Amino acid sequence: MADTAPIDLRSDTVTKPSPAMRQAMATAEVGDDVFGDDPTINRLQERVASLLGKEAALYVPSGSMANQVSIRAQTQPGDEIIAHQDSHIYHYEAGAPAGLSGCSLRLLQGDRGIYDADAVRAAVRPTDSHFAQSALIVVENTHNRGGGSIWSVEAIAAIRDVANEHKLKMHLDGARLMNASVASGRKPTEYTQYFDTVSMCFSKGLGAPVGSAVAGTAETIRRIHRFRKMFGGGMRQAGIIAAGALYALEHNVERLADDHANAKRLAAALAELPGISIEPDTVETNILYFDVDPERGTGQSVAESLREQGVWMLAIGPQRLRAVTHLDVSAEDIERAIAAIGRVLK
Ligand SMILES: Cc1ncc(COP(=O)(O)O)c(C=O)c1O
Repeated sequence: MADTAPIDLRSDTVTKPSPAMRQAMATAEVGDDVFGDDPTINRLQERVASLLGKEAALYVPSGSMANQVSIRAQTQPGDEIIAHQDSHIYHYEAGAPAGLSGCSLRLLQGDRGIYDADAVRAAVRPTDSHFAQSALIVVENTHNRGGGSIWSVEAIAAIRDVANEHKLKMHLDGARLMNASVASGRKPTEYTQYFDTVSMCFSKGLGAPVGSAVAGTAETIRRIHRFRKMFGGGMRQAGIIAAGALYALEHNVERLADDHANAKRLAAALAELPGISIEPDTVETNILYFDVDPERGTGQSVAESLREQGVWMLAIGPQRLRAVTHLDVSAEDIERAIAAIGRVLK
């Protein structure tokens, strides 16, 4: 067993609030947010609306809820949602598009979570009563299962043209939009201008303990407010957690570049190790996937051996592991992790 604190690379959701963030939370002004009375939440919502270039924003408990209230507000039961086959809304939200909104998913292929406008055009259903009605396109940026991949603004703009041709809405699952923005040098609004609704998370790389937001027109956010209540997401003196999100927006955005550098360093070192397959050039932000050769073990057995060395990663397939860098992992931790992986694979 390692004698120092574990290096937890399972996800960027594992970050813990720093003493300064806790201080901001402890002193936050609060009120009953179901009545709209929480000044800290109101400040956060205004801040997010302006950051994302939208009329209004709403604080919600999680990224999954942000996506699902956006879906519910912009679809009818029997509608179809166009999304990538590796998308978070499809794999990791407990079947919610069907369960909560009565929608089917039309899943597209594409390298590392990214599809193109032609694929969308081909997937739009004819307006014949045999078919589900295409209603909403969901883009995930960065793309989690795509390895933290970044969409180009141009690809999104081309998809918006198809959406306009067919009167479809567009939702951005921007759980890690700030990672995309920092890594690409593009302002968040360069991406968000093409979307009717946008979600973003504070509890991933930004390091807040809880919470996400969804932004859109004032009218859409009013509708979403109702569905947030329906789905059980109305919170009371939640300014105490929203203060962590405000702190994160103030202090933890630019530093995402450190996480990206750490992920690239890790990927480059992994590529040098025998028994590991990874394309380091595809690592653009803070998420990386790699495969271990079967003669070295399985994804699970390697994850277990690494854990004994104090390095925590997720086995996410028979041979596949995931590592995610974040603000509680330093450059020195990455060097320790690389040394541990080397020992395990020997
Ligand atoms: C791309 C993406 N969207 C949405 C979510 C959901 O966030 P939450 O875990 O807060 O529900 C995640 C979580 O990891 C994610 O990676």
